[in-house]
Amino acid sequence: MAHAHITGWGKYLPQKVLTNADLEKIVDTSDDWIISRTGIRERHIVGDDEATSTMAVEAGRNALKIAALAPDALDLVILTTNSPDRTFPASAAMVQHALGATGAAAFDAMAGCSGFIYALVTAYQYITAGSYRNVLVVGSEALTRLVDWNDRSTCVLFGDGAGAVVVQAGDSETDMLSFVMGNDGSGADSLWAAGPCGRLGERSQNEHYYLTMDGREVFRFAVNAIVEYSKQAVDKAGLKMADIDLVIPHQANTRINEASLVKALGIPREKIFENIDRYGNMSSASPAVALCEAVEQGRLKKGDLVLLVAFGAGLSWAAAVLRWQSTN
Ligand code: ACO
Repeated sequence: MAHAHITGWGKYLPQKVLTNADLEKIVDTSDDWIISRTGIRERHIVGDDEATSTMAVEAGRNALKIAALAPDALDLVILTTNSPDRTFPASAAMVQHALGATGAAAFDAMAGCSGFIYALVTAYQYITAGSYRNVLVVGSEALTRLVDWNDRSTCVLFGDGAGAVVVQAGDSETDMLSFVMGNDGSGADSLWAAGPCGRLGERSQNEHYYLTMDGREVFRFAVNAIVEYSKQAVDKAGLKMADIDLVIPHQANTRINEASLVKALGIPREKIFENIDRYGNMSSASPAVALCEAVEQGRLKKGDLVLLVAFGAGLSWAAAVLRWQSTN
């Protein structure tokens, strides 16, 4: 079996920043409410000339640079998103072309905010099976384009951006020690956005394709999912929770992380990576950008054990344990 590990990481955040004070002028909300209920202070908003694919290209380029890998050496580009540029082709097709990844297959993977971990696991499967050597995994989202700016219960939560990693075959041990993925489609109505190909009833109910969310239901699900699947992933890796050096959770709500990781699992706050205050919830881009920033900030060193855990629309969940191999 071939070995696989992350060799490059990169991110891209659009220039425009929307603060809580800006939102106070749009909907009936307050900086105080948003910070205390979610932990979010500001978020980046995709520019008019940008989209999921263009942000993914920037993040992908940065990751390839760190990996010192030429784009034409890529075998596969997996883009995970819930806000693709077009219904088809896959946004990954535009990314593959713009990067000059002329030898790569390309497809999109959608699994709510768990998508980045789903896509990462998929990359490892191709490499450890010996099928491919170089895979680019990108999480990119222009989710604010699905937001109803009159709905204060959702518009304060989301932001746009992209994060990417390069996964390569190599001699050192595979850095992913375990993973858990799952889905409960009975919760598909808890968080969703209609599309142009749906049933007539769904389309007419939500003709702008705005996202709809049962916040309390998703909150309950999220806390349970983080607790249960973090435990399962750590257990499968043959480790104890106390062995984990850094947890990189989905950045949906700091209270979700507090209730699950700190209160239920007893993980010290300093072991939990958070950047939700600056970016809000970037859906499947959140864990990717967080991983990238954790490395950039020196929070991950060679040999460190890191737990990635996410939940999202589906309702989906995913967790993975890595023994970080790269030297930054
Ligand atoms: N500003 C001010 N007040 C608000 C706002 C706002 N932006 N939004 C809601 N409120 C009000 C409500 O109207 C309600 O008022 P009422 O009591 O008079 O009816 C009150 O605040 C409390 O509302 P709740 O919905 O109970 O607030 P809650 O504490 O549950 O927080 C939140 C809402 C932040 C959405 C929370 O439920 C949450 O984070 N849920 C999980 C969401 C999530 O993680 N989604 C992403 C999933 S990942 C993916 O796949 C995209």
